Amino acid sequence: MKTRFTLALGAIAFSALVACQTSPSTSGEHYFTANVKPILEQHCLRCHTGAHPPAGLNLTTRDSAMASRHRLGKTFIAPGQPDASLLLTAISRNGSHPQMMPRATLSLTDDQIGTLREWIEDGATWPTGEAGRLHHVSTSENR
Ligand code: HEC
Repeated sequence: MKTRFTLALGAIAFSALVACQTSPSTSGEHYFTANVKPILEQHCLRCHTGAHPPAGLNLTTRDSAMASRHRLGKTFIAPGQPDASLLLTAISRNGSHPQMMPRATLSLTDDQIGTLREWIEDGATWPTGEAGRLHHVSTSENR
């Protein structure tokens, strides 16, 4: 009896473990707040916020970002389509983001670019409310 109980517990624990490992979610709100938000706040919000943001791209909230219109009609964030998303392609290696940007501010690591790519690929989840409101965060490298 005791053995069966232990076995059952073991099976439950094992399936929980497998479930966690096989679905590394990059689409949830947690992924946005834990991984995407800090990148945008530290590297983009210094400029891309307010009434007249550069290129018309306001990254303060999901609504402002999705309502942003590029002057050439390009889409900034196309959920599920990273290569059609100017937000990503502009800042990737050899992207169109203006060369005049201070290098240190804009040089995201490959990991950070990969995080943004996966986030857009998996639907660009961006929560509403305070969790989804971005504020500029100054770090020693982007001050
Ligand atoms: C130091 C200020 C500054 C920072 C920081 C900054 N940008 Fe920009 N961004 C600009 C300016 C200026 C432009 C060009 C505006 C124009 O062409 O009218 C621009 C243009 C863009 C464009 C349009 C590119 C195109 O091809 O037209 C995108 C997309 C963009 N920025 C995204 C970002 C993202 C994402 C970040 C953070 C990783 C970021 N920017 C950080 C100032 C900044």
